[in-house]
Amino acid sequence: MHLPTLAVTLALLLPQALCTPLLDFSAANGDPPSTLGILNLEEARDEKISANTNDLYIKLATDPHGVPALHYHRKQSYIRAEYHALANKLEENKTYYIGYKFSLGVIEQSLMIFQFKAYAGNNAATNAANIPLSLEFKSGQLHLQYQADGSSGREPQWSRAVDTDTVYAVGVVIHTGRPGWVEFYFDGEPQTLGDAAAAATRLAANTWTGRTEPKFGAYRGEAVAVDTYVYRVQIGTEVADIAEAAGLGATASASASASAAATGAIAAGSCSWVGHCAGASCATEDDCSDELVCTGGKCASS
Ligand SMILES: *[C@@H]1O[C@H](CO)[C@@H](O)[C@H](O)[C@H]1NC(C)=O
Repeated sequence: MHLPTLAVTLALLLPQALCTPLLDFSAANGDPPSTLGILNLEEARDEKISANTNDLYIKLATDPHGVPALHYHRKQSYIRAEYHALANKLEENKTYYIGYKFSLGVIEQSLMIFQFKAYAGNNAATNAANIPLSLEFKSGQLHLQYQADGSSGREPQWSRAVDTDTVYAVGVVIHTGRPGWVEFYFDGEPQTLGDAAAAATRLAANTWTGRTEPKFGAYRGEAVAVDTYVYRVQIGTEVADIAEAAGLGATASASASASAAATGAIAAGSCSWVGHCAGASCATEDDCSDELVCTGGKCASS
């Protein structure tokens, strides 16, 4: 092969090999809020307003500590301040990684801060769920909820107490399908999902019956005024795409450099199932990569 041909071929292949994230919002970089998609503001249900007001807005500002953040503000009784991301961009039978870093000014019953919301297929004929996946507060705890179909409720698969005025990082991995599956990271650690008897890091789930898309912000919980802060949202097709927003740190970066090197070799200190390497939390051996076993709640070599 001629050298120039090789150079051109590499130049064409390289951007794909490095993989472009589908969405990358950073308040610290001053990215405009519209980077996150479509602004959804509602004073009452189905009473949309098209632009920010003093009582209902999403603005690039700072959190109460002066850290750059997207500030969501909703007056008491107002119902929705959300960004709807990647409209018409997702497909069936694909794996999407969603990273989300936020803090909350208030915790309130029924406040929903993340939705994977069905926009099509959500009707009697398909018996699809309205909101297949959501993060919602119930009894003071943050719940990851799964709604299997149109006749099921949103059932908690994971829950945890969280505090106001604290930055948290979540990662939601969704394989779109019927059935597809879901994995969930909280502050960089893979979480077990489902009831205790069947807990595993991967939950089989109906996640796709037509257009279904992520939303970030504040929906319901309208009994109180709401202020929430979003620092970073990353969405992509590889775990490395969400390393920062999901708080995955060094593990995902190691994997990113391994794939960037395009050798297929796994970097030292990493493993083939990022987030499930030595030291990761586990409930069973199935939560650990390759040959690793689950010892004392951590993945380790046998
Ligand atoms: C997704 O996979 C299912 C099951 O294999 C298949 O029936 C369906 O056609 C696939 N959809 C697409 C868009 O490839």
